[in-house]
Amino acid sequence: MDSLFLKDIRLYNFKNHESLELSFSDKINCIVGRNGVGKTALLDAVYYLSMCKSYFSSNDKQTVRFQEDAFMLEGFYSRSNKEERIKCGWKLGQKKSFKRNDKSYERLSDHIGFFPAVVIAPKDHELIDGGSELRRKFADQVISQSNSAYLESLIHYNRVLLQRNALLKMQQQSGRVESGLLENYDFQLELYGNQIFTARSAFAEGMKELVQSYYSQISGRQEEASMQYQSGLQEYSLLEELKKRTKLDCLSGYTSVGVHKDDLYWNLKDKSLKAFGSQGQQKSFLIALKLAQFDFISKKTNLKPILLLDDIFDKLDAHRVEQLIQLVNTHHYGQIFITDTHADRTSDIAKRINEESVIHELSYSEEEETKQF
Ligand SMILES: Nc1ncnc2c1ncn2[C@@H]1O[C@H](COP(=O)(O)OP(=O)(O)OP(=O)(O)O)[C@@H](O)[C@H]1O
Ligand SMILES: [Mg+2]
Repeated sequence: MDSLFLKDIRLYNFKNHESLELSFSDKINCIVGRNGVGKTALLDAVYYLSMCKSYFSSNDKQTVRFQEDAFMLEGFYSRSNKEERIKCGWKLGQKKSFKRNDKSYERLSDHIGFFPAVVIAPKDHELIDGGSELRRKFADQVISQSNSAYLESLIHYNRVLLQRNALLKMQQQSGRVESGLLENYDFQLELYGNQIFTARSAFAEGMKELVQSYYSQISGRQEEASMQYQSGLQEYSLLEELKKRTKLDCLSGYTSVGVHKDDLYWNLKDKSLKAFGSQGQQKSFLIALKLAQFDFISKKTNLKPILLLDDIFDKLDAHRVEQLIQLVNTHHYGQIFITDTHADRTSDIAKRINEESVIHELSYSEEEETKQF
């Protein structure tokens, strides 16, 4: 397995950090400090350098520091024993720029997957509670970190889908049907849709046993945790179904079948995790899911993704925290970042983890300190 770790990071006007520079251990980095000092923001900056976007906000205007119109991130990495420098700049009204060793990327999608990263954060709960779109996004994000052709298919598919929906809406208003153009879109949706379906099926198959195994390790119990991929393409050919539904789609102005309707189901002992799982069980499942994601990506890329653990010990009982520490404390993982508000608990955990670990204490800036009460 090739090595990967972030050596240094620089943040300028990224969320609450006006200017921050830190050097990291290639093993375990604990980020501690009071609520609101910017621990999660720092983790997000690491994620941003890997995925070209924030894990927490889809809009970069929320990522730039209040009252500012530009932010910058710089990361100095070691990847397969080679030094790599990534620089990202964002300015209001301009295209985001990403440079690797001073050379601009033409497409951001060329960068995604180069420094794989896996996050475990309280926000992941929306994968259970939220709509199917979030679960598709999760699958897409995992697959695209290990398969760049997938991201291309996805971009094409979404573009054609938008065009097809726009055409349907036009036809809905004018009453005229442009069957030639529609047919062309259908062929393209079939082509890219099948590629996406095949990759998602392989993803679900590859993740299934991993999730089960991690869940058992964390919970220490034999509860069966499962995930199931649900797609219309398991039942019909997309091209035929699109043709069958043309009239209906023209009436609604919307494409009613395709991989944009796929979903993933999570279950515990054959019961819906969302409806019946306890808070701790749900959290354990999400951690199992993310550790499975880690394995899935490392197997495909031959790199150990950077593991970003945000507040993961909350809500877990002492037994599960212990299991989790044992799990993380193996050579299986590469560089790890852990945030926690309890400096004592973290340093205790860090001491018990045999690997070399470093504690980074963040504090409020003077200006912010005066605003706290
Ligand atoms: N765009 C922004 N500009 C300036 N500050 C921001 C921006 N977005 C968020 N913040 C603020 O940054 C601060 C740090 O948030 P962050 O979530 O990183 O804190 P944290 O250290 O993880 O806290 P907690 O222990 O509660 O999880 C918060 O006060 C938040 O409101
Ligand atoms: Mg936080």
